[in-house]
Amino acid sequence: MSTPRPPDPSFAQCPDRRHTGAEKWDRWPEDVIPVWVADMDFQAPPEVLEAIQARVNHGVFGYTADPPGFAPALATHLEALHGWRIDPATVVGTPGVVTGLALSARLLTAPGDEILTFSPVYPPFLSLPGAAERRSVRVGLVRDASASSGWSIDHDALQAAVTPRTKLLWLCHPHNPTGTVFSRVDLLALADFAARNAIRVVSDEIWADLILDDVPHVPFATLDHPAAASCITLVTPSKTWNLAGLGCAAAIIPDASERKRWRPSGGGLVPMVNPLGYAAAEAAWLHGDPWRRRLVALLCDHRDRALAAVAAIPGLEATRPQATYLVWIDCRKTGNADPFAACVAAGVGPSDGRDFAAPGFIRLNTACPTDRLERALDRLRRAF
Ligand SMILES: Cc1ncc(COP(=O)(O)O)c(C=O)c1O
Repeated sequence: MSTPRPPDPSFAQCPDRRHTGAEKWDRWPEDVIPVWVADMDFQAPPEVLEAIQARVNHGVFGYTADPPGFAPALATHLEALHGWRIDPATVVGTPGVVTGLALSARLLTAPGDEILTFSPVYPPFLSLPGAAERRSVRVGLVRDASASSGWSIDHDALQAAVTPRTKLLWLCHPHNPTGTVFSRVDLLALADFAARNAIRVVSDEIWADLILDDVPHVPFATLDHPAAASCITLVTPSKTWNLAGLGCAAAIIPDASERKRWRPSGGGLVPMVNPLGYAAAEAAWLHGDPWRRRLVALLCDHRDRALAAVAAIPGLEATRPQATYLVWIDCRKTGNADPFAACVAAGVGPSDGRDFAAPGFIRLNTACPTDRLERALDRLRRAF
C-alpha cells in the first residue's frame, strides 16, 4: 500500500450539494456523511462546464438527436483509452446506462426469458428483469485469494444456471461493487459460454475509464469471438466526469436493425438525450483526459486510505478494487446483524449490501475530498 499523498487542490473544495435535490446528500440529516450512491462530490472539469455554457448560450433546446460530433468523440475516446476502434455508425445516444439495460431486455428477450448476472451487483441488474416480466438469474462471484481482484467467476455454476429460457448475460465490467476488472481469459471463457448456449451479452462498461491498477480494460466487444461481434456495449461519461444528472449515455450496437429498434423497444417511455448532456459528453470525451488522470491518482490514494482503515477495524474485510471509487466491505465477522444501520448511527452513510443481494456487506464511495473521506473513515471505526 502506498503512502498517502497530499490532496490534489482541485479536488479539495466542493460546492455544498445539500438541499439541491442531490440524491446522495438529501437522504440523511446533515450530521451523516453520505458515501453511498455512486456520484462524486467534485465539480466537472472546466472544459466540460465551458461546453455546457456554450450550449446554453445557443439558447435553443428543441428535440435533439445524436449531434454529428457525438459518436466521433466517443470513438476517439475509446480508441485513445482502450485501443478500441468502433464504427461511429454503431453508436446510439441513450439517456442512461440503466435505460440501456432495460431496453436490451425488451429488445433481445421475450417475457418469461431469463437474464443472467453475477451477484453481488449494482441493484438495477437485479430489479430490471422483473420490471420487464423477465426473470433475473444470479450466479455468485466467488471469493478467490489467488485472483488479482479477490473475486472470480464460477464457470460451472454459470453453466448449471442455464435453462432453455436463458437468453441474455448482463455483464458489469468493471464490476460494481467489487471493482473487478475481468481479464481477457475470463472474458474469452464467458464468450465461449455465451456462444455455446446461444446467449447474447450486454456489457455495461460504465466504469471502464476509472481503472486504478495497471491492468487493461478489455472491452468485451473487442474479443476475437462471435459472441463479441453481437455484444451490445453500454458506456457513458457520467461516472468518470460526474455527469450522471445530465442523462447521457451511448449504446454501441453492431446490428443495424437492432439499432433502429433500440429506442422504440421502450414503447415510448424512453426520451431522447437532452442537448446539454450531449454537449457535456462530447467535451468530456475529447478534452477530459488530463482531468481524468488526476482523478484516478486521487482515487487510488483514497482506495488505499479506505483499505488501510478497514484492515485496522476488527471483523471488517475488504478486497482491493482494481477499478471504480467503491470499496466493498464484508462486515459479517463483526457479528453486527445490521452493519448499514450501525454506520448510519455513527454518522456515515454507505450503501447497504442487501440492495446488492449481499446482506452483511456495505459499499463505501471514496469520491469526495480527502478530509471528508478521513472523517467518514473515523466514523466507520466508531460504528464497529
Ligand atoms: C454498473 C452501473 N451501471 C449503471 C449505472 C447507472 O448508469 P446511468 O446513471 O447512466 O443510468 C451505475 C451507477 O452507479 C453503475 O454502477
